[in-house]
Amino acid sequence: MPRLRIDSEEVTLNYRDEGSGREAVVLLHGFPFTSDLWDAQIAALSDRYRTITPDLRGFGLSDLSPRGYSIARLADDVEELLLALDIDRAVVVGLSMGGYVAFEFYRRHPNRVSALVLADTRPDSDTDEVRANRVATAERVRREGSRSLVDELVPKLLAPRTRTHQPQVESALRRMMESTHPDAIVAALSAMADRDDSRPLLANISVPVLAIAGAEDGLTPPDEMREWARSIPGAKIACIERAGHVSNLENPSVFNALVGDFLANMESAS
Ligand code: MLT
Repeated sequence: MPRLRIDSEEVTLNYRDEGSGREAVVLLHGFPFTSDLWDAQIAALSDRYRTITPDLRGFGLSDLSPRGYSIARLADDVEELLLALDIDRAVVVGLSMGGYVAFEFYRRHPNRVSALVLADTRPDSDTDEVRANRVATAERVRREGSRSLVDELVPKLLAPRTRTHQPQVESALRRMMESTHPDAIVAALSAMADRDDSRPLLANISVPVLAIAGAEDGLTPPDEMREWARSIPGAKIACIERAGHVSNLENPSVFNALVGDFLANMESAS
């Protein structure tokens, strides 16, 4: 598996780089998952696009280096990855925390983005209540380990129907979450709590955008998504039935069709 070494930081990041095509697509996973989240999207997209799926710092097989861990640092890791792979511009797809990184990546490196897909995410920074919950969760994970987060989070992540009809989806999520080191969970919770508000950015986004929400996503509900996505000029908005917060995993055929059509339209317009 390819690895990128960021020498200035003494960190090695893991990523997959599959397929080829005129466009490169970089998919950024949510918290606390790994690049395995995107297996179904790699299968669907890599016959037409160069499809790159990093393990964000601290997740999967990527090193942690908790010093200076921030959403901005994760966005700059994506920039270093594109530089190393000699990719000028890419379609950036981010789910939830991956969406926070995608917003930040656009803010810092707008010329490197040819389009954005923002799934089950939000542009707002945390409220004080959410921040306080993150501190309490971090303390618990430090004390009791990653597993203590899993049972609490899984019911919030998945639509009830996913849990009853697709037990393999829940097992895959649990595997990713349980494999994540507590230090990475703690670092990412603090990074998310400190992230900037991306709402002022929305009206200035000048690349094609597709915003997606699972119809049963209780963490980033579709009504909220419609509200913020309307502030992005020309954004396409889609809601995926039979899906909660992890819509790409819960209903991959619809997710892949939406992203595939969006990319095909974008290519034919350019
Ligand atoms: C995620 O799925 O990445 C998380 O729900 C993001 C968050 O905790 O804000």
